Amino acid sequence: MPLSQRANLIPQSPIRKLAGFGLEAKKRGVKVYHLNIGQPDLPPPAAVFDFLNNYHGPVIEYSHSQGEHDYLESLVKYYHRLGHQDLDKDNFIATLGGSEAILWAIMTVADPGDEIITFEPFYTNYNSLAIMAGVKLKAVATKIEEGFHLPDKKAILSQINEKTKAIMFCNPNNPTGTVYRRAELDLLYDIAQEKNLYLLSDEVYREFAYGEHRMISILTVEKERQADLAESRVLVLDSFSKRYSLCGARVGLVCSRNKKIIAVMLRYGQARLSAGSINMLMTANIIGQDEDYLEQTLAEYAKRRQVLIDGLNRIEGLVFCEPEGAFYIIVKLPVADADEFCQWLLTDFKDRNETVMLAPAAGFYLSQGSGKDEVRLAYVLKEDDLRRAMEILAKALDKWEERRA
Ligand SMILES: Cc1ncc(COP(=O)(O)O)c(C=O)c1O
Repeated sequence: MPLSQRANLIPQSPIRKLAGFGLEAKKRGVKVYHLNIGQPDLPPPAAVFDFLNNYHGPVIEYSHSQGEHDYLESLVKYYHRLGHQDLDKDNFIATLGGSEAILWAIMTVADPGDEIITFEPFYTNYNSLAIMAGVKLKAVATKIEEGFHLPDKKAILSQINEKTKAIMFCNPNNPTGTVYRRAELDLLYDIAQEKNLYLLSDEVYREFAYGEHRMISILTVEKERQADLAESRVLVLDSFSKRYSLCGARVGLVCSRNKKIIAVMLRYGQARLSAGSINMLMTANIIGQDEDYLEQTLAEYAKRRQVLIDGLNRIEGLVFCEPEGAFYIIVKLPVADADEFCQWLLTDFKDRNETVMLAPAAGFYLSQGSGKDEVRLAYVLKEDDLRRAMEILAKALDKWEERRA
């Protein structure tokens, strides 16, 4: 029996596709430094474990499909603290991580056969989730030499047609680390107005901005520019996975000033009954007690970012731009095929019985051939481990070059 077209189209995750080789290397006793995946290693706030240790049933109930009351209240407080004081609990719906927020947003604004545009390189699951919804993702190229900032209006308009329903973007960006400037957000807002499009703004890395450029939410732009906020076409996709090192808890949300959008999503929520009640309550318990935690977390990632940049600067032949936010960087390597190189790192190479695992970047692009010589690195390792990982990468590149000579 043939499977669905969707089943055949859905790509393997480029972030996880080398996982089998990584496991084999570990079985052979090789230590693998994971630069391939954005799994934060920092402990979550202590209040998480206090909450879990003090949770005493009597049963683990379904929650309301919109989300636990306390969770929704805590979202209101958090978003007010971010400066969006006009929002109330009906501007939010709980989701299973940012992933479900992305899927629901796509399913709410686009029908099968419709198109959504994004900017490549992009968070690879945008494509997988679009395929699950029967929607075609189209990508506008951004360039490493331009810090992966947005191209001009003409380039963006060239990808928009009558099937286009939305522009989806990630700010601060995974995988590039770019933090969009106000002018870029204004440009997207203008295009959305002009072409009647929704804006899907993935802000899961909101707090992670390191340089002089602070992250600006599309909610701020909209508030200043949109006359009738109740008819908003802006959806913010959000998650606590990265912010509090809670990836496995699957706690996310969609926020929109358009309550009709949230009401539609509630029906998706009802179809899958509920997000995890304990995890929402646990997260509600942290929000509001987290300012020091977030400050320390940001300071830690800022140090790691510098270690990574220093390490990369010491390796000859690399091309990259310093990331401004999130905890990722795209690096162009002096290799013809980063896929092959990344696999070889796990199957053949080791230095003092250690190696590194990187994510080949081709999977972050839709355009054939793009990103073939690039990798994405996540700096979610301790400083010493990052230093060592950079040393291993330098040695591996030398060895790779020798092999070819
Ligand atoms: C840009 C971006 N959006 C959304 C997600 C989804 O994360 P989660 O479902 O854990 O919230 C991720 C995870 O890596 C991400 O990088």
